[in-house]
Amino acid sequence: MDSIGSAGLRQGEEALSYPEEGLPGPSDSSELVQECLQQFKVTGAQLQQIQASLLGSMEQALRGQASPAPAVRMLPTYVGSTPHGTEQGDFVVLELGATGASLRVLWVTLTGTEGHRVEPRSQEFVIPQEVMLGAGQQLFDFAAHCLSEFLDVQPVSKQGLQLGFSFSFPCHQTGLDRSTLISWTKGFRCSGVEGQDVVQLLRDAIQRHGAYNIDVVAVVNDTVGTMMGCELGARPCEVGLVVDTGTNACYMEEARHVAVLDEDRGRVCVSVEWGSFSDVGALGPVLTTFDHTLDHESLNPGAQRFEKMIGGLYLGELVRLVLAHLARRGVLFGGGTSPALLSRGSILLEHVAEMEDPSAGAARVHAILQDLGLSPGASDVELVQHVCAAVCTRAAQLCAAALAAVLSRLQHGREQQTLQVAVATGGRVCERHPRFCSILQGTVMLLAPECDVSFIPSADGGGRGVAMVTAVAARLAAHRRLLEETLAPFRLNHDQLAAVQAQMRKAMVKGLRGEASSLRMLPTFVRATPDGSERGDFLALDLGGTNFRVLLVRVTTGVQITSQIYSIPESVAQGSGQQLFDHIVDCIVDFQQKQGLSGQSLPLGFTFSFPCRQLGLDQGILLNWTKGFNASDCEGQDVVNLLREAITRRQAVELNVVAIVNDTVGTMMSCGYEDPRCEIGLIVGTGTNACYMEELRNVAGVPGDSGRMCINMEWGAFGDDGSLAMLSTCFDASVDQASINPGKQRFEKMISGMYLGEIVRHILLHLTSLGVLFRGQQTQCLQTRDIFKTKFLSEIESDSLALRQVRAILEDLGLPLTSDDALMVLEVCQAVSQRAAQLCGAGVAAVVEKIRENRGLEELAVSVGVDGTLYKLHPHFSSLVAATVRELAPRCVVTFLQSEDGSGKGAALVTAVACRLAQLTRV
Ligand code: BG6
Ligand code: GLC
Ligand code: GLC
Repeated sequence: MDSIGSAGLRQGEEALSYPEEGLPGPSDSSELVQECLQQFKVTGAQLQQIQASLLGSMEQALRGQASPAPAVRMLPTYVGSTPHGTEQGDFVVLELGATGASLRVLWVTLTGTEGHRVEPRSQEFVIPQEVMLGAGQQLFDFAAHCLSEFLDVQPVSKQGLQLGFSFSFPCHQTGLDRSTLISWTKGFRCSGVEGQDVVQLLRDAIQRHGAYNIDVVAVVNDTVGTMMGCELGARPCEVGLVVDTGTNACYMEEARHVAVLDEDRGRVCVSVEWGSFSDVGALGPVLTTFDHTLDHESLNPGAQRFEKMIGGLYLGELVRLVLAHLARRGVLFGGGTSPALLSRGSILLEHVAEMEDPSAGAARVHAILQDLGLSPGASDVELVQHVCAAVCTRAAQLCAAALAAVLSRLQHGREQQTLQVAVATGGRVCERHPRFCSILQGTVMLLAPECDVSFIPSADGGGRGVAMVTAVAARLAAHRRLLEETLAPFRLNHDQLAAVQAQMRKAMVKGLRGEASSLRMLPTFVRATPDGSERGDFLALDLGGTNFRVLLVRVTTGVQITSQIYSIPESVAQGSGQQLFDHIVDCIVDFQQKQGLSGQSLPLGFTFSFPCRQLGLDQGILLNWTKGFNASDCEGQDVVNLLREAITRRQAVELNVVAIVNDTVGTMMSCGYEDPRCEIGLIVGTGTNACYMEELRNVAGVPGDSGRMCINMEWGAFGDDGSLAMLSTCFDASVDQASINPGKQRFEKMISGMYLGEIVRHILLHLTSLGVLFRGQQTQCLQTRDIFKTKFLSEIESDSLALRQVRAILEDLGLPLTSDDALMVLEVCQAVSQRAAQLCGAGVAAVVEKIRENRGLEELAVSVGVDGTLYKLHPHFSSLVAATVRELAPRCVVTFLQSEDGSGKGAALVTAVACRLAQLTRV
């Protein structure tokens, strides 16, 4: 067998000379001893193979590829950056699992100033064996008990304590305070804990105990605590190594390389969990018969094979197995054994450490052996020292190979030729075995020569590091609370929505009667939906949504549409009325020329999506502008007249304006052409509004009592009398104040596309001012009005989008943000759009219930024709509207039909119906 060790290097291996400080020289005792010790020798080639194989397992695990054997686990920890040095506050730290059968509680004060350190206070408790192997609840109750016992004698308040939980076992973390135990390692085997969130178990136990109000803020692995507690030095400390009862390391990995995270920026601390490394090819050759026996007799046979060669829980046991073997073979202790030598666990890590320490002297070794009931001779003492040294040397070398693999990984990840890095070391084996550390360091230098590594022993067993993570987690939790408080007014419950529905219903009735109401309930003079017998070519205009369109609509047995979009610059929309209508006529002329329609006077339907008081189908007095329009000298004028005047000014065209139609009406008519049950039109786009077929007898101001008429509700203005004040947030108020029509269209400003982005922007500004977002830094970009388009809400909330794409959208806006920020922005968007959809649903519920009651029906089946960019593009809006309607109007079966061709087609159909009816009267 190739070997390096006390027997020296084999020929051909001189190039790699691995350090083995202070090991006693070759003994001249029997062949048997040599043979036995030989088994613990590991060659340079073997170490390199372990390093390479481990690196391979690590990279495979990072890529998310499952391997047949439980190789290293590479568990992301949700720690995204090494400490800033500015963390401060008092924290309780509870350590479980790092150091054998003991549990430690610490009180750590972080001062927030570098170099200024307050020594932590701490207390250690021994965990009884029956608790380590008993029911999980018992273990956590024990922990809660220890916490109280410690805190009882500290001069601290019983309230509002923040705790960091150092739990050193392999766990799947899903947040800084959520961590599911995968499997126990080392000497623990409590029932009912594997597969459970250990933070929750601890919280439950603390609550059962009842003595203190403690918030468990973060959970960390001991390696992470070790790394995070490292003093800030010249070079970044990006690796934490622990060799205590067990062994493991963590390091800062590039987040983009951790497949499970779906994150492309920054770094994340990954706990390697190398204790479970078990590649037979690499480890097989170095496993001894003693390792196999130890594994067989352990609590977890077959598991943690690598750890069982390095961890402090196992080193004493390996020594014991070798000594018992040699004694039985007559080589040691004159062939005598003792009950202690033959019982598991009788030689502890401390014993091994002392016995192999050359300065300890023969007398100490002698005493330890005597305590074990043995009677050692002088040569026995020397031999026992050899055995201890061989076991520990191998452990240090294997640990070095593993650490070298982590360093190579860091180097690969960063694509750097040479790497300068500090490794924080912790755990009793590292701290108390000077030989272990120097062999480890020397071997690492040989295995990873391109890495310039400095080793920094952790000052207080990682407690400070745990407190650091806890401080960060506490800050994040406080941010979350502020976020929740901010968004709470957007989360409407059933009662609030039912109240909106009831108020809407009242306002509808008043508006229909002509009484004071924020709902104008405007008659449209549309009395019938198309019956399919309409024929002809029609022109249509569609003004008031995202696009201004001119259309040619051919109605035969079906409907054919040719259309063109024209832009209306803001300067025109908000300039003079004459300019606006001249521009519209110019567009019509252009369209006619392009379509070869010049000189023809086709009947024209005008979708004009603003509140108009109609006196007939072709007469509509603009009551007021809404949305982004504010052209002068139009309010109070008949829009059809304004258009006709512009036509006259233009002379070249002749147009026959037959009907003026609101977009809701156009949408209802267009969907009604396909489905005769469509008696409601709904728009959720730039603005929002609805229309529906009302009984004429309920409509004041229009002669006749029989039949129905379509009523344009103009529900965007709902609440302009103050009735929505209870629901309005300060963000709604800001959006309203900054709009061109303050105090107007309050319902619309909570729902429609023109405003949702602005609401989100105002919330983001507020959260930034609280320091919750963007690290509290206000950017110029976020101060810019309308920068946050409503289409971003639709994009950000799209399920198929990963968080990193969300971030890309925001970064395009000039908002540099972390993943935490991105998540919060997403939640803000969700809260705002959910409220919008629910309010809209409450409105629809009021309408369908009114129709049902009008008709005296137990149940109503009705369809709603819907259009608008927000409704169509947003991934959840439509289903939220439908769900709200189901909840608030359970006796109505409501089908939502999305309009395919916009309301221009509807305007043409209204025109077609009017032409058909006109012809009939002529006949
Ligand atoms: C379309 C109409 O149906 O929907 C427009 O053709 C209407 O006139 C629009 O205003 C509403 O959607 P948006 O998102 O364009 O305002
Ligand atoms: C074991 C645990 C690991 C821990 C290590 C050192 O390997 O599984 O989580 O870091 O021991 O305590
Ligand atoms: C605005 C208009 C209204 C229109 C709605 C949808 O609320 O006042 O007439 O229907 O926007 O475009």
